[in-house]
Amino acid sequence: MDLQNKVALVTGAGVRLGQAIAQKLGQMGMRVVIHYHHSEKGAKQTLKLLSGNELRNLILQADLKEVSAIKELVRKAEEQSGPISVLINNAADFFPTPLFSTTEEEWDHLFEINLKAPFFLAQTVAKGMKKRGEGKIINLVDVSADRPWVSFLPYCTSKAGLGSLTKGLARALAPEIQVNAIAPGTILPPPEHAEMDLSVSVEQSLLKRIGLAEDIVQTVEYLLKSDFVTGTILPVDGGRSVY
Ligand SMILES: NC(=O)c1ccc[n+]([C@@H]2O[C@H](COP(=O)([O-])OP(=O)(O)OC[C@H]3O[C@@H](n4cnc5c(N)ncnc54)[C@H](OP(=O)(O)O)[C@@H]3O)[C@@H](O)[C@H]2O)c1
Repeated sequence: MDLQNKVALVTGAGVRLGQAIAQKLGQMGMRVVIHYHHSEKGAKQTLKLLSGNELRNLILQADLKEVSAIKELVRKAEEQSGPISVLINNAADFFPTPLFSTTEEEWDHLFEINLKAPFFLAQTVAKGMKKRGEGKIINLVDVSADRPWVSFLPYCTSKAGLGSLTKGLARALAPEIQVNAIAPGTILPPPEHAEMDLSVSVEQSLLKRIGLAEDIVQTVEYLLKSDFVTGTILPVDGGRSVY
């Protein structure tokens, strides 16, 4: 698929990995729809990082827990920027949920943002992609989906579901649309992450370092440029998944 001037929607593009991915897509010649929820300032910063092309890109706010908000986001994006050819399902939530104190609200919240939202985003953009005969979807999973952390079971399970969804969507949407996932190891630890935990991540990788945003960005670029890869979940984890 020729990516030049095509529209890419990146969810959660106001901070961290989403921001880095959005910047890369701009450098690759794509028009970027920068989605954010609370990080308006970050989304504006992302737009600046795409500078020189500010009029080509767009910022839109939405709470992706609501399916109606997802449909409205896609409608506005396509009305203002044109048909979406690339969807990066990056937005997610992540916090500890110890087994015996996890609430129903926490479970529902994590599944709504981490699994339900990517499903309905894919459903909403894929109709047009199918009609136009091309499209690419990339889901951000997590290596912990296969080796769940005991204090984060709803998060890890939602990401395992997203891995399964990736394969199912690849089958449902072929041959026009490629659907793949990236499973990062520890890349950008949450600011509150303790030093001790970080050293465990380094120790339990083969390459003895945590990842960089650039490691994920390069993988996004590879998956977008490839026209023969679909239904894969690519670990980008310094070998942590085989440690
Ligand atoms: N960082 C890592 O080391 C790592 C490791 C493994 C997997 N991953 C995966 O990679 C992706 C990006 O990671 P990250 O660390 O950069 O994420 P992050 O810093 O936690 O950012 C999450 C993003 O999701 C958005 N979001 C959260 N709740 C939302 C809601 N209800 N509606 C709409 N948007 C919502 C946030 O938007 P606002 O800020 O605008 O509110 C934010 O932009 C995630 O899917 C994560 O699970 C990351």
